[in-house]
Amino acid sequence: MKLTLRVWRQKNADAPGAMSTYQVDGISQDMSFLEMLDTLNEELILAGDDPVAFDHDCREGICGACSLVINGDAHGPNGVSPARADSSAWGSTTTCQLHMRAFHDGDTIDIEPWRASAFPVVKDLVVDRSAFDRIIQAGGYISAPTGTAPDAHATPVPKPDADFAFEHAECIGCGACVAACPNGSAMLFTSAKVNHLNVLPQGAPERETRVLDMVEQMDSEGFGGCTLTGECATACPKGIPLPSISAMNKEWLRATRKARR
Ligand code: FES
Repeated sequence: MKLTLRVWRQKNADAPGAMSTYQVDGISQDMSFLEMLDTLNEELILAGDDPVAFDHDCREGICGACSLVINGDAHGPNGVSPARADSSAWGSTTTCQLHMRAFHDGDTIDIEPWRASAFPVVKDLVVDRSAFDRIIQAGGYISAPTGTAPDAHATPVPKPDADFAFEHAECIGCGACVAACPNGSAMLFTSAKVNHLNVLPQGAPERETRVLDMVEQMDSEGFGGCTLTGECATACPKGIPLPSISAMNKEWLRATRKARR
């Protein structure tokens, strides 16, 4: 395939950025999107140009490092939910799991970084997502000693609670929810982390402080407010559901009332 790529280039956080246009040829449909960018970078390096900076690590949809807005969609055309994806695509896909078969010969592809004021651009397509780390540091942990695996099995967890915890534990912290939200809200990410731990007996000792501290940290990082547009859940490659936010709001109200008593 021969493609035209329009890529956001920005030297650093303070420099102005702009879209630059590149042509790439000989792209196989079996390549991943990141392998296609590797091909572009090899050509740029051979020509003595600066390669395009982009985040990646596992390239298996696990770590959450990859983060590109492709043709206006966080994680690209296969990253959207099955309800929005066309018949040749599927939902729940990270950028690294997006393959070039989702595109056609001659396509023009726009590639941009996550756009949110709480995720400042570091360089080109790389943004600083350390705000998520600070939200986790505020309460995304447990203090209960869980011991080894057999010890953990000694604490019975009702099946619906275990399923609820697992569903929210799937969040890989990629930030697609923030990038897709018109308000730049981090409510889906924060709610996934709060709900994952708050429903389990091991998370009970910090149940109230966790939700209060994590929401306070989220607000202080400059993320926007949630107006329940639902774009976050649509873009989430792990299918964290929108009701996760209302579950966290319930936890927050409960904790606030208890703190006032
Ligand atoms: S590189 Fe790890 S999820 Fe994409």
